[in-house]
Amino acid sequence: MSELLEKAGKRFARVATRAVVARPRLWRLFRGPIRAQFDRLAPVWHGRAGPEALAPFAAALDRLEEPPRRALDLGTGTGKGAAFLAERFPDVEVVGVDLAPEMVAEAQRVLPPGLAGRVRFEVADASDLPFEDGAFDLVVLLNMIPFFGELRRVTAPGGTLVVAFAFGPETPIWTPPETLRASLEPLGFTGFEEVVAGPGTALLAKRAGPG
Ligand SMILES: C[S@@+](CC[C@H](N)C(=O)[O-])C[C@H]1O[C@@H](n2cnc3c(N)ncnc32)[C@H](O)[C@@H]1O
Repeated sequence: MSELLEKAGKRFARVATRAVVARPRLWRLFRGPIRAQFDRLAPVWHGRAGPEALAPFAAALDRLEEPPRRALDLGTGTGKGAAFLAERFPDVEVVGVDLAPEMVAEAQRVLPPGLAGRVRFEVADASDLPFEDGAFDLVVLLNMIPFFGELRRVTAPGGTLVVAFAFGPETPIWTPPETLRASLEPLGFTGFEEVVAGPGTALLAKRAGPG
């Protein structure tokens, strides 16, 4: 891919993220082009970033009070976050979801066979998820646009949300921590923690428990 095309793609992802976070209804305009963009990127995505890109995610997971049992990786791409979770927590079951079918196909292809019993991938839209309310005690987003209503709905009471960006504000799909907090607090998320690790950042939040 030419450098120019790559730059344009990153700029588009940045514009789409800002627009959709400010006005979620605009997602219907961006959905098709974003899916096409990531379908195109799928064959080269897995080799693009080194292990340092997972540093903020790993540091956020260090803060969990308990190992998760059921985790959801939204915008999983080629499934790096999903596989990392399964390797880190031997009892967790992980679902990785992506809008782009080519990304999901690639995630299934590169998943280490030893994890196949506990990690599965699905094509789905994070703005309208096919899961029950409170289905996951850990929901993670790595370099992904947040859809706040669905985040609240599928995170179990007492569960944790991790939003990580491999390169902090340099990440094309980036939402500032203050925006995340301002959107999550009214939805009942509390206990915010910010993490900086390697070149990246992450935010943890807890969904208020039952009672
Ligand atoms: C920047 S990539 C990050 C992929 C992966 N999390 C990683 O860090 O390597 C963003 C991914 O989110 C997916 N995506 C964007 N919007 C989505 C949505 N509404 N629902 C599900 N996936 C989405 C894209 O298809 C793409 O694979």
